[in-house]
Amino acid sequence: MSAVKKEASISMSTAATQVRSDVKSLDLADQGKKRIEWANQSMKVLQNIRKDFIKSQPLKGVRISACLHVTSETANLAITLRDGGADVVLCASNPLSTQDEVAASLVRDYNIPVFAIKGEDNDSYYSHILAALDHKPHLTMDDGADLVTIALTKRQDVVSGIYAGTEETTTGVIRLRAMARDGVLKYPIIAVNDAGTKHMFDNRYGTGQSTLDGVIRCTNMLMAGAKFVVAGYGWCGKGLAFRAKGMGADVIVTEIDPLKAIEAVMDGHRVMSMGEAAKIGDVFVTVTGNKNVLNKEHFDVMKNGAVVANSGHFNVEIDIPALEKMASSRRPTREFVEEYSMKDGRKIYLLGEGRLINLAAAEGHPASVMDMSFANQALSVEYLVENHASLEHKVFPVPLELDKKVARLKLESMGVKIDRLSPEQEEYLASWSEGT
Ligand SMILES: NC(=O)c1ccc[n+]([C@@H]2O[C@H](COP(=O)([O-])OP(=O)(O)OC[C@H]3O[C@@H](n4cnc5c(N)ncnc54)[C@H](O)[C@@H]3O)[C@@H](O)[C@H]2O)c1
Repeated sequence: MSAVKKEASISMSTAATQVRSDVKSLDLADQGKKRIEWANQSMKVLQNIRKDFIKSQPLKGVRISACLHVTSETANLAITLRDGGADVVLCASNPLSTQDEVAASLVRDYNIPVFAIKGEDNDSYYSHILAALDHKPHLTMDDGADLVTIALTKRQDVVSGIYAGTEETTTGVIRLRAMARDGVLKYPIIAVNDAGTKHMFDNRYGTGQSTLDGVIRCTNMLMAGAKFVVAGYGWCGKGLAFRAKGMGADVIVTEIDPLKAIEAVMDGHRVMSMGEAAKIGDVFVTVTGNKNVLNKEHFDVMKNGAVVANSGHFNVEIDIPALEKMASSRRPTREFVEEYSMKDGRKIYLLGEGRLINLAAAEGHPASVMDMSFANQALSVEYLVENHASLEHKVFPVPLELDKKVARLKLESMGVKIDRLSPEQEEYLASWSEGT
């Protein structure tokens, strides 16, 4: 193809991508491109996979619909999949997590259709998911399982063409396992969240740091000396608790699992029921994946000025309808801060509409940690393209060899070398007879 013809066909396909997409404004694309490039610098493992994908084209002709937080890190994943030969479209996995400038650049500069606008209402959110399913995907990528759920309930016409999928987060994996249990899951899914190189780092350090970042950006509160209540001491909760403690907060943990609770005690945090914590906390953050963890009983006893936020996947962890009912009035006071005036004169501040605060008010996880999560996504997609036919309609872990590959590549990118087992050690570990 001549250079002129090639250029013409690229700009025609870019025009088609622009027509298909729904983003806030393509005028934001310059800023988005810079953000995508900035994130890319810290995603060395993904860069490595991208180089291999460009050579081997393992995803040639594969249509992928991805429902993920539309951030600069996700953009680099989408570009990697595209460069591996896939035909990718992207929609948001949360109405408040989209970076509009990144969405614009993906459309204008990378020819990847995107359906996502920060702050979209629920109707637009779901119509964007439906638009992503119009792509008739072979593979779905989810963060929270909304795409699979909509496909299975409202777009059954596309389901027979889907041969596999991946899931990014704890809550999505829980939903998908329930679907598999009830026999409604129609294709195999890899639970990326369950890879060690995902939840041990992304959930703990990524959510931990960015959640605190979100709370601070909204409120500009001093963390030193603040009574900081963390509901849920799972991977996200322990990351958040340690980072808050590192800034000098007096951390209080609430839990329902005695194992997690004792872990929090021995990690040096105060542990108590939410009923008790509600009376003394300055800041409350839920990261449980559960509903109504903060409810009327707690709002009733909170101090004047208490700040409440959520970093779990769905905005159900705080009982916002109860808070609305209890308030005599409400008004926005700062960006992402809503002041609820209680009938007794107390004020309670809800951050980011109760949606995951690290993405609503900050930038989500740092790129260097998403590097591992999305390397798992890319390798899992490649694995599914090769192996989907032999997999049942269940939820599978990331194969251990891929998890270890991601860890090895990350260590290499950090210049960290580790030891190898000697033949003698390998033999010793494999044997039951050598005890002394
Ligand atoms: N904000 C983000 O960017 C981000 C990133 C990763 C995961 N997530 C989401 O965060 C949530 C937590 O993920 P995780 O990986 O930490 O899960 P996890 O299963 O490791 O931890 C959840 C913890 O919450 C506890 N819990 C449940 N109900 C509770 C209640 N009523 N009160 C107190 N504790 C309770 C559980 O016992 C468990 O220890 C999920 O919804 C997940 O999808 C968000």
